[in-house]
Amino acid sequence: MFDASKVRQDFPLLTRGDTVFLDSAASSQKPEAVLRAMDDVYRRGYANVHRGVYAWSEAATAAYDAARAEVADFLGAPSPEEIVFTRNATESLNLLAYSYGRTFLKAGDEIILSELEHHANFVPWLVLARERGVVLRFWPVGVDGTLSLAALDALITPRTRLITFAQVSNVLGTITDPRPVVARARAVGARVIVDGAQSAPHMPVNVADLGVDFFVCSGHKMLGPTGIGVLYGRRELLEAMPPFLTGGDMISRVSFEGATWNEVPLKFEAGTPAFVEAIGLGAAVRYLSALGMANVRAHEIEITDYALERLSEVPGLRILGPDTADRHGGAIAFTLPRVHPHDLASLLDQRGIAVRAGHHCAQPLHERLGITASTRASFYVYSMPQDVDALIEGIESARKTLRA
Ligand SMILES: Cc1ncc(COP(=O)(O)O)c(C=O)c1O
Repeated sequence: MFDASKVRQDFPLLTRGDTVFLDSAASSQKPEAVLRAMDDVYRRGYANVHRGVYAWSEAATAAYDAARAEVADFLGAPSPEEIVFTRNATESLNLLAYSYGRTFLKAGDEIILSELEHHANFVPWLVLARERGVVLRFWPVGVDGTLSLAALDALITPRTRLITFAQVSNVLGTITDPRPVVARARAVGARVIVDGAQSAPHMPVNVADLGVDFFVCSGHKMLGPTGIGVLYGRRELLEAMPPFLTGGDMISRVSFEGATWNEVPLKFEAGTPAFVEAIGLGAAVRYLSALGMANVRAHEIEITDYALERLSEVPGLRILGPDTADRHGGAIAFTLPRVHPHDLASLLDQRGIAVRAGHHCAQPLHERLGITASTRASFYVYSMPQDVDALIEGIESARKTLRA
């Protein structure tokens, strides 16, 4: 049985009990197991990877390789060589736009991306479009906050080369199933990139079953440390792509005349990697797997369902995005008439409640929704109904203070 109150005991910062933490979509808290895994490297045998022939370096290299295998297993990647470690989802997407985009896309080719994308999956394509004359076509968000296949069908043309979208929106919580998108992309020979920054932490993901070409996520949103991100890519695509950053570790041989590249994934990991962070991420996915990702998702549905119900009791409160928990990830954004999200977040903070206010790095989406900002509460494995109750009391109190 999944018991969030027991899970919470594993998170040192949360056991202090001074903060109702409702901002996991921005970054999650860390369990003891992750802190310990990283501490152990520094205390028991720290040395750079891939370089030394002595015990500490060999142990660190083995632990780094093991973390890659664990992440591959967690995401259902057929092999660890298809997992590239980056700094975060943003870097993974930039890698794709620079390496894949600038090699395989040319003027007049079309990229379809959704209107609800995080800036991380927006700006790299905007820059590519401006630089190369690639055409961006935007998959519109429906009035219910979802991305419909009918709307996608209306955008796909023989010139569509790439379709990219978030599996779970960081604002609306909208869940989009990659499978039917992949089927449509295949029909016109297009590639699919899934931004899994908000899905990999919260639901079972199997990239091989989904059939996607690329999948990205961030360690820090899935109980791991900052500074480590993931790019899954199908091996033949990674092999065909040129390096993104160059320097040490990513080469096979360097001479005064030129250089040849290392095998994937090391071809994409220039310089000393964030191997301690990768080892921390390995511990995080081990922890999540022990909880069971189906249980993690079931808990999220339960807490989201409760939050949607309680929030809908607040007069005038408008929930952005799907209104049922089964169609919703663990982030709920909302607006309140006559209350600015920053004022609400500040008043909530005075009660020790941490939520996010602003555009959540999705300005085009907010523009589409006709607003400039929203307040977002987001949940994770340690979130409990009393957190939602505290949020509702805080909102009611803020409404009184602001006479809204
Ligand atoms: C859907 C989505 N994509 C990408 C990102 C970027 O993640 P990071 O800042 O870790 O690179 C985020 C972060 O909030 C996100 O929610």
